[in-house]
Amino acid sequence: MNPLECRDLTKHYGATPVLHGVSLTVRAGAITALLGPSGCGKTTTLRLIAGFEFPDSGTITIKGRVVADSRARIPAEDRRVGMVFQEYALFPHLSVGDNIGFGLKGAAGTKKARIDEMLNLVGLAEMGDRMPHALSGGQQQRVALARALAPQPDILLLDEPFSNLDAALRSQVRADVRTILKAAGMTCVFVTHDQHEALSLADEVAVMFDGRIAQIAPPHVLYHAPVDRNVAAFVGESNFLPGLAEGSSVLCPLGRLPLVEPAHGRVFVLVRPEAVLLGERGINAQVLWREFYGHDQRVGLKLDDGKRIVARTSADAVYEPGEVVGLSVKTPVRALD
Ligand SMILES: Nc1ncnc2c1ncn2[C@@H]1O[C@H](COP(=O)(O)OP(=O)(O)OP(=O)(O)O)[C@@H](O)[C@H]1O
Ligand SMILES: [Mg+2]
Repeated sequence: MNPLECRDLTKHYGATPVLHGVSLTVRAGAITALLGPSGCGKTTTLRLIAGFEFPDSGTITIKGRVVADSRARIPAEDRRVGMVFQEYALFPHLSVGDNIGFGLKGAAGTKKARIDEMLNLVGLAEMGDRMPHALSGGQQQRVALARALAPQPDILLLDEPFSNLDAALRSQVRADVRTILKAAGMTCVFVTHDQHEALSLADEVAVMFDGRIAQIAPPHVLYHAPVDRNVAAFVGESNFLPGLAEGSSVLCPLGRLPLVEPAHGRVFVLVRPEAVLLGERGINAQVLWREFYGHDQRVGLKLDDGKRIVARTSADAVYEPGEVVGLSVKTPVRALD
């Protein structure tokens, strides 16, 4: 049994439809990212799962119990769902330990033991007596996580949990949070509009556009086998070339290329920038620009027919604007509608 099942959730705010049938299944112990552009309905979906709002239609099942459908309306406090907010929402007048123990019931001794266990889990064993204002952003984030995990929720929801951290801290805190969640064996849904965050942190990524889930898949599947051009363009960088598919190959401005999966008729060929190979071989392309990153570089190119393509290559070779290079593609390629 999966700990979280959402089926065909719809939601309006006033006359505005926000969710158009969201279905989402999360496996036990998996971290699922809900990834999509601003306003697509990510927070709304999380609020329905948490029980702060109720769907107009559809069903939410948590650990086999229907918490929301046309009849059931189980409120947030009866759902065993933990939540970590973007702004952490720590209680400023309570110590770190008291923040973590806030939602715990039971005898003082048991509570104290659970708080200590959580402090250890998040690597703040010596900081139980500190006040929140005396912590770094990353430490506050870990306290918020410990507080949400302390009552042993069935699932944990995190809404843009890293957006308050500066870029340098963010990747470290992300890795720490993943380690903590995995150590706790927690089933999670976290919301982000950052594709790098989703791909690097999650076991599965649900891509959401306009109140619908377009695809849910492990990161590498999402990247290499997107269901359509919208997903391909949102997750990673894409070159789309018009082509005519004839079964196992496709004819396009880069020649006849083998396909990963057979297709027929007019299609768009997806070529990721790192699959564009530059050198002596292939068709002629003119270098338009170059962005150097140190570990690699992006090169903008123009084909004879005017079509523009971006390549991502090792930083060894130097390409000057105006120069003509040979362009070929690492195959097979994927055809999308
Ligand atoms: N309480 C509300 N009343 C009316 N409209 C709302 C309400 N909450 C959200 N909306 C609208 O619903 C849509 C989805 O909002 P939601 O907060 O779920 O988006 P999101 O994907 O979390 O976006 P972001 O990445 O910007 O946080 C938006 O168009 C928003 O304006
Ligand atoms: Mg939001």
